[in-house]
Amino acid sequence: MSATSPLLTIENLCFDFDGQSEKTVNALELSVEKGEIVCILGASGCGKTTVLNLIAGLLKPKSGTINLRTEAGKRNSIGYIFQSDALFPWRTVEGNLMLAFDINKSLDRSKATETMQQYLAMFHLSRQVLMKYPAQLSGGMRQRVSIIQSLMFDPDLLLLDEPFSALDYYTKLSLEEEFCNLVKEKKKAAILVTHDIEEAVAMGSRAFIMSGGKLAKEFGIRRETENEITRGSEEFAKHYREIWMELKSIISG
Ligand SMILES: Nc1ncnc2c1ncn2[C@@H]1O[C@H](COP(=O)(O)OP(=O)(O)O)[C@@H](O)[C@H]1O
Ligand SMILES: [Mg+2]
Repeated sequence: MSATSPLLTIENLCFDFDGQSEKTVNALELSVEKGEIVCILGASGCGKTTVLNLIAGLLKPKSGTINLRTEAGKRNSIGYIFQSDALFPWRTVEGNLMLAFDINKSLDRSKATETMQQYLAMFHLSRQVLMKYPAQLSGGMRQRVSIIQSLMFDPDLLLLDEPFSALDYYTKLSLEEEFCNLVKEKKKAAILVTHDIEEAVAMGSRAFIMSGGKLAKEFGIRRETENEITRGSEEFAKHYREIWMELKSIISG
């Protein structure tokens, strides 16, 4: 437990779509600290996206509370990154990345440009991409741009819904690594929904399996201070096995 209260606290969260016989989200509890990546796994249709939509404020809880501890005066504390990017096709990459600046004119333009360049370097994108349009980029580049676009709003918490699942394997690996470094260096927090156990073990500080409307089972994977758990190591395999066994038994009912 940290001395300060968690960044995000969810208590007794309940939600159902009208006419549903069972609640999609049923007394769900979760707390997330700064610097953490929390992964949510679970069968298709178990309510993972619904939970992210509730946290993002796109859906209204039927009961329960979602508390995000934000710094005073801050407007955009949540960034939401989808599986397919939500870039504006008619804007160049630079136009897409400077969206935060265009929306919030109180930002300093040269500071926004500096931040943008810092993120481009972090995600291994050259400055040549700035003049291109989304359609001219590969899937991996588009997803990088889309992550940077969210980061330009300087959110404390990032929500990611299967963000890397449409990418080829090697692009996925590098993006996972770049994203982990980013969360550490910039002291962000992230909730990552994925169907990929390997991804959860490679990226998560904790992983949850969602079932019956709750985060039914928790796995501790790594602490912030710990060394990396390398792919292919016995430790990696052990976490993978544990999660897989549990997921298998939940999915097969
Ligand atoms: N807009 C909606 N109206 C009614 N039911 C929905 C809606 N969106 C999702 N659902 C249902 O809610 C459940 C959870 O969906 P979802 O959160 O998308 O699951 P997941 O992301 O885990 O695959 C599913 O049974 C789905 O069919
Ligand atoms: Mg989903």
